[in-house]
Amino acid sequence: TMTTDAAATPREIDNIAHRGGSAAAPENTIAACALAMAQGADVCEFDIQQSKDHQLILIHDQTLARTTNVEQIFPRRSPWRVSDFTLAEIQRLDAGSWFSPRYRGEGVPTLGQGLRAMSRSKARLLLEIKHSPRNPDIDKRVAAELQEVHTEWSDERLAVQAFDWRAMRTFHNMRPHVPISLLGKPPADRLSELAGYVKGVTLPHSGLTAQYVKKAHKQGMKVYTGTTHKPAVIRRLISYGVDGIMTNRPGRLASVKRRP
Ligand code: G3P
Ligand code: CA
Repeated sequence: TMTTDAAATPREIDNIAHRGGSAAAPENTIAACALAMAQGADVCEFDIQQSKDHQLILIHDQTLARTTNVEQIFPRRSPWRVSDFTLAEIQRLDAGSWFSPRYRGEGVPTLGQGLRAMSRSKARLLLEIKHSPRNPDIDKRVAAELQEVHTEWSDERLAVQAFDWRAMRTFHNMRPHVPISLLGKPPADRLSELAGYVKGVTLPHSGLTAQYVKKAHKQGMKVYTGTTHKPAVIRRLISYGVDGIMTNRPGRLASVKRRP
């Protein structure tokens, strides 16, 4: 039951469109985030990686194969690693038609394009930095990009998350006011030690307990969880007092929020 003071009411819980909302539109595209907002999302979660020429783009997998038409356009470039393609090459790809012909022509956005496209909407962004040895200076680049757009994208409109906690500590030193969320379920007994630079945790709903949420809140941390669109799971998470739920179907979550 919702007994902690910090617990949000269902209406206040952030409806976070996972990968921009990937059930009704192609993931990690501007079209997906725009649709998610129209369906009642508050936040778009996007994944960030780097091109060969170190430009920041929004894409989940380490290869371009699943979510673009790269195999058609560059048939000899297997295994189609994101980090082996320049931004100019990536911008020739279609990131929509694999999902549905309706989305033909939707591109792989750069982080800058995503920020510009959504800046006049009410969207907030949860940006996941995908660290890998192929993304050497990604944190520095993301920090610089956020600095550049900070007038439209105040630090309260953004959060950055990653599985690499050490990298997140470094990121915090570069942009101390941007809230950091850690992926991968930090153990409850480490939360106080992490609270110096961490403002949130993003973890799977399975295994999450009301007690964990309470402990995180005591450290001033938000709890984001996901990914689900099942009303029974959503209601349980709401009863735990979570601050946000990630979903591929923001419309479903919006309707549970309206009629909990
Ligand atoms: O659950 C958080 C989520 O964003 C991490 O998973 O693989 O969808 O980026 P993934
Ligand atoms: Ca993600």
